[in-house]
Amino acid sequence: MSQIIRSVSDLKNEIYKVKAANTSIGLVPTMGALHQGHLSLVQMSKKHYDVTVATIFVNPAQFNNKEDLLKYPKTEASDIKMLISMGCDIIFVPTAAEIYGEEPLVKLNFGYLENILEGKHRPGHFNGVGLIVMKFFGLVQPTGAYFGQKDLQQFRVISTLVRDFDLSINLHLAPIIREVSGLAMSSRNLKLSKTDQKKAAAIYASLELAKNQLLSGGKKEVVLKNAINHLSSKSGLKLEYFEIVDAETLKEKTTVNEGDRLALCAAAIIAGVRLIDNIIIEL
Ligand code: PAF
Repeated sequence: MSQIIRSVSDLKNEIYKVKAANTSIGLVPTMGALHQGHLSLVQMSKKHYDVTVATIFVNPAQFNNKEDLLKYPKTEASDIKMLISMGCDIIFVPTAAEIYGEEPLVKLNFGYLENILEGKHRPGHFNGVGLIVMKFFGLVQPTGAYFGQKDLQQFRVISTLVRDFDLSINLHLAPIIREVSGLAMSSRNLKLSKTDQKKAAAIYASLELAKNQLLSGGKKEVVLKNAINHLSSKSGLKLEYFEIVDAETLKEKTTVNEGDRLALCAAAIIAGVRLIDNIIIEL
C-alpha cells in the first residue's frame, strides 16, 4: 500500500525502517503534473529496487523567474492518485516551508555547466536543483535515482554532485517519452493549447532534421543554420537556442567527426511557455 508523507520527520522515520530491513530504495524526484514520462521512471524504479519513493515538490529554489514558478502546473490530487495506481511505495509531498524552513546557506556552483545551455539562460537554476536533489538524497538515502533525458544538463549536474561528493547512488537516465507528434512530454505542455502543442512539435522536428543531416555527413555550421532557420520560420515560436554539443560534457563542438557522440539541444518559448528538448546521436 502507498504511504503519503508530508513531513520531513515522518519521512526520516519511514526511511529508517526501510533501511533497517536492508531494503534497496529507488528515488523518483518530480515537481508533479505527472505524465507518462514520470510514470515510466516509477515503473523502472519498481523493477530495479525493493521500495520506490517518489517526491512531488515544485521547488521554488530552482525558478529564476517568479512568474514561471507561479504558472507552473499543480495537479497534486491526480498526481497522488496516479502514483498510488502505479504501486509507488512512498509518496513524499512536502510544503516549501517544510523543506526550506531553514534557508540553506550553501550555494552550489557547477563550473562551466553554469555558462552553457540552460545554465546560461537560467542563472541560479542549477544551484536550486542541486540543493533539492541533495536534500532528497540525504532524506531518502536512495540506492538509485531516476531522471529523464529531457533535462539532460540537469542529469550532468546531478552526476557531478554524485561524483564530487562520492555519493553511493546509482543514477539512471531514462529516455524521453514523446507525444505522437514528437513533442517531448513535459509538465509544462499542460499550459499549452492544443494548437500551441502542435506548434511546439516543431522543436522535435528541427532536432530530427539536424540529426538526419549530421548522420548523412552534413557540416556542423550548415546543419545548425538549417535547424535554426526551420525554427525561426515558425510563427508563435521564439527560439532561445539550438546547439550541437558533446553528449557527455555538453561542451560545444566546433567540428563534428565520425564516432562523435553528440547531443542536439534546443529551447524555445511558445505562448509564454519555455520548452526544452534534445536528442543524442552517434556519428
Ligand atoms: O526534473 C525535475 O522535475 C526537477 O528539476 C527535480 C529533479 C524534481 C528537482 O526539483
